[in-house]
Amino acid sequence: MKKNKIAVAVALCMAAVLTACGGTAKTETTKAAGAETTKAGAETTKAGAETTKAGAESSAAGGKLVMVTNAEFPPYEYHDNNDIVGIDADIAKAIADKMGMELEIQDMAFDSLIPAVQSGKADFTAAGMTVNEDRKKNVDFTDTYAQAAQVIIVKDGSDIKVPADLDGKKIGVQTGTTGDIYAGDIKDANINRYNKGMEAVMALTQGKIDAVVIDREPAKVFVKENAGLKILDEAFTEEEYAIAVKKGNTELLEKMNAAIKELKDSGELQKIVDKYITAE
Ligand code: ARG
Repeated sequence: MKKNKIAVAVALCMAAVLTACGGTAKTETTKAAGAETTKAGAETTKAGAETTKAGAESSAAGGKLVMVTNAEFPPYEYHDNNDIVGIDADIAKAIADKMGMELEIQDMAFDSLIPAVQSGKADFTAAGMTVNEDRKKNVDFTDTYAQAAQVIIVKDGSDIKVPADLDGKKIGVQTGTTGDIYAGDIKDANINRYNKGMEAVMALTQGKIDAVVIDREPAKVFVKENAGLKILDEAFTEEEYAIAVKKGNTELLEKMNAAIKELKDSGELQKIVDKYITAE
């Protein structure tokens, strides 16, 4: 299992999902953000498995924060060899630092993130997660830390030019995301769900579907790395990202909000974003 994961991460790297896979900036991040996860994961199966379990159990008490994410979402979270890096990983690390806590990052399917937080398996999720009313019933969200949007990716030359053209089309989404939810509002939509956004993009390049609805920044990365695709000018929806904690965990929520405010005020948050997103 673990080997497979590593193989996939390496393959992804080779496919240059992101340009600077081995870049200095990212390697540094890795060290800062993913140190533990990384080492545990990279060493041997036994070490990795144990660390993960111990971390999950001791999360509340032991000076360690366990974060869950779905690292298929560059530039917010993605694999860089054996590490999970990205804007969310760096923000989470900065928050943990301010709280004087260690950070452990675990990777899982996107639609498992909220259940993991609800059950207490994790302390929080940072996953480019959009705040919405439905999710608010199950978790508490921190203050938002990013503006986002769902956009539409099509093949060059597609007859889909604006969101209204999606009616009756085959649309690819990542399971359980807001793209998945909003695609449900499209008339006669034929929704195709994938475990990873990148898989939806692959299906689009192969002509299996007509469009992908996904968050803007990952869309930019995927389009850059796959010839013959473009993002429609008109966004599908505007949204905002926040971190989610267990419902009623006001202590953690307040500490995280204080840290987020500090990161915003000091310009540190913007610095993290700029490290991963270069202005056009
Ligand atoms: N913003 C979207 C949502 O909240 C997609 C997030 C996907 N995140 C990820 N790490 N795969 O539903």
